[in-house]
Amino acid sequence: MKTIKAIVANWKMNHLRADAEAFCSKFVAEYTQKTGIAVGIAPPYPYLELVGSRLKDSGVLLFAQNGLDKPKGAYTGEVSMVQLKDIGCYGVILGHSERRQYYGETEATLVPKIISARENDLLPLLCVGESLAQRESNEILEVISRQLAILSQVGAGSIWIAYEPIWAIGTGRVATPAQVEEVHVFIRKEMIRLLGEPGKDIPILYGGSVTPENATELLQTPEVAGGLVGGASLDPEKFHQLVTQAQK
Ligand code: 13P
Repeated sequence: MKTIKAIVANWKMNHLRADAEAFCSKFVAEYTQKTGIAVGIAPPYPYLELVGSRLKDSGVLLFAQNGLDKPKGAYTGEVSMVQLKDIGCYGVILGHSERRQYYGETEATLVPKIISARENDLLPLLCVGESLAQRESNEILEVISRQLAILSQVGAGSIWIAYEPIWAIGTGRVATPAQVEEVHVFIRKEMIRLLGEPGKDIPILYGGSVTPENATELLQTPEVAGGLVGGASLDPEKFHQLVTQAQK
């Protein structure tokens, strides 16, 4: 099997209803689906269903930005994987550094989330990445290895990985192709070590200040199967340019 390529928009806590609608109209009008390149959008919870309905029949996949492993019950403020599947999500971003940093997401909380996502036929898109302090103290591979170690607990199965160095997120300070390659090659080795043969085909996306200006070079970097895009994904034209570059 050849590793699929993918470009996923992570809107984070941005856009209101009208923006989401305008984005979808513009993007869907320009977008042509091509085989081998998956395109996804992860809007905030309140607009998931709206965006899902506007993307219907376009081939664009709907992602949530988080989900809880419990199927239902007294978990005020949470949304279950069952509910995400029910409203048409294809996948769910898990372990984003902003959730690790601000909301106490840890390897321990991620294990049941990945399992629950899979049980509900949702693709987990697991984010890993080091902080600037960890990079400067040369702990990069150790941190990534620790974050990926949970794969041995959840086993082989559907998953995409996104390498998002925290210092490159929303800063305009994109990692160089050499920095990206070093970590992506390491992630590939770790996945094969942890999962065996299936580890060879898991797509590894890069995220962190990806723009139409730097995407072509990043996308040509070995082991980079696409991008997880924040800021540049809010503008339908920029996002479309990114998708077009990945489709080349
Ligand atoms: P930016 O593209 O805004 O740096 O965000 C990256 C990101 O965190 C995507 O999940």
